[in-house]
Amino acid sequence: MTAPLADFRPQSLSLKINGRDVGPLQVPAGLMMIDLLHEYLDLTGSRLGCGQGVCHACVVILDHQDGTSEEVRTCITGAHFFAGKSIRTIEGHAQRNEQGEVVALSPVQQKFLEHFSFQCGYCTPGFVNAATVLIERLKRQPVAREKVEETITEALNEHICRCTGYVRYYEAVKEVVMTTPGLVKDAA
Ligand code: FES
Ligand code: FES
Repeated sequence: MTAPLADFRPQSLSLKINGRDVGPLQVPAGLMMIDLLHEYLDLTGSRLGCGQGVCHACVVILDHQDGTSEEVRTCITGAHFFAGKSIRTIEGHAQRNEQGEVVALSPVQQKFLEHFSFQCGYCTPGFVNAATVLIERLKRQPVAREKVEETITEALNEHICRCTGYVRYYEAVKEVVMTTPGLVKDAA
């Protein structure tokens, strides 16, 4: 299907990515966010899987001003939706030195590595973002101990792994949840 001409009209876009101001950029009105990341910004860690909003490989983290965060699928969300907003991509999780070299993984990344959670790794950026959003939510709203397992399952449920590594992802996230102080509360 041919895109309407209006989709190609450039519009100015500024946003914050991984703590850095980006833009103003002139990008087509109908550009999908995944294409902005890949083709304009060389941030290629977010994966294009299904391209239809199903697999969640392409998610980034959208940070709201009230301190909450959520996953957003970049294959079905236009780049201009993010105008003025603040997001994190997979490139923003690890700590880096002044030369840009990774010096420490995030707790979620570290546990995925230790648990051999991924095989081809194509789905991994999406799982890292999902688990990170979960951990951040539990820091604000700790989960009851008896609800930990279903909470993790719900948080990861929409992410598809074609290598079927679900159990190791789940186990890694559970270890982060159980070993990070303040995420789990015991019944009163
Ligand atoms: S690539 Fe975006 S949901 Fe599958
Ligand atoms: S590790 Fe290959 S798709 Fe998940």
